[in-house]
Amino acid sequence: MADTNQIKHVASPLARQTLLDGDLTRPVAGSRPIKLLPWVHVVKIGGRIMDRGHEAILPLVDELRSLLPEHRLLILTGAGIRARHLYSVGLDLGLPVGSLAPLAASEAGQNGHILANLLAPEGVSYVEHPTIASQLAIHLSAARAVVGSAFPPYHHHEFPTSRIPLHRADTGAFLLADALGAAGLTIVEDVDGVYTTDPNGADGKKAELLKETSFAELAKLEGTLPFDPALIEVMANARHIARVQVVNGLVPGRLTAALRGQHVGSIIHTGARPV
Ligand SMILES: Nc1ncnc2c1ncn2[C@@H]1O[C@H](COP(=O)(O)OP(=O)(O)OP(=O)(O)O)[C@@H](O)[C@H]1O
Ligand SMILES: [Mg+2]
Repeated sequence: MADTNQIKHVASPLARQTLLDGDLTRPVAGSRPIKLLPWVHVVKIGGRIMDRGHEAILPLVDELRSLLPEHRLLILTGAGIRARHLYSVGLDLGLPVGSLAPLAASEAGQNGHILANLLAPEGVSYVEHPTIASQLAIHLSAARAVVGSAFPPYHHHEFPTSRIPLHRADTGAFLLADALGAAGLTIVEDVDGVYTTDPNGADGKKAELLKETSFAELAKLEGTLPFDPALIEVMANARHIARVQVVNGLVPGRLTAALRGQHVGSIIHTGARPV
């Protein structure tokens, strides 16, 4: 015990506490974090839009191009059909989820490269995750938008909860938007928004568009959603992003309307406390 006196203690409110006791950490860690890039809008483009080729992609690229004078964008792409094929081959071979996650992420990245090539004349380029993590501000000061992969880099650390990666493009886009304190997150789908049931499924005729809903209501819905189920849990714990808007990227003008604050598609309220 005599040695204790020779240790130089650094004054810190958490130094002598366990980080596991919420009551003790809350006074220090419970406040809202700062917004790093409050002027950036995050737009997640569904892989299924990219899968449709030029008929779907070129009008959307035109729309993104015309939005650039109004908004600075972080455009994030999903993985689409190639990842689904990859999952089926990988699962058939018995690959663990931690091996499938980075493979699927590379497909999301490929879609991002495609989109960035098409927007290159506007100064838009594809940036890798380390650049998004540490140099996004300088890139968005030099260009009105950058493109990245929406897939989060859990890679070999992906949770083994399911054989298909739990954290996919929608979760990744939300985590980034919330961490940046972005102005908003718009998810671009190939349907008008979130429905009570899959509009393209067996009960499609009964599907009703949920124009305004919340993460809690969606958690109670039985059946599928047009995004990763993990997104619901992440939305529940959001710090900044109070609402997510889901719009149809196959209908020209919907994304523009959403970014201009109009109520098109579905608005999902998250668990973020109002300021
Ligand atoms: N409750 C629901 N509301 C709306 N669409 C739904 C619902 N449940 C399932 N879907 C289906 O989800 C489809 C979109 O699939 P998904 O979200 O996997 O594509 P994506 O977002 O483009 O892909 P990725 O996640 O790879 O970017 C829609 O075309 C629709 O048929
Ligand atoms: Mg989707």
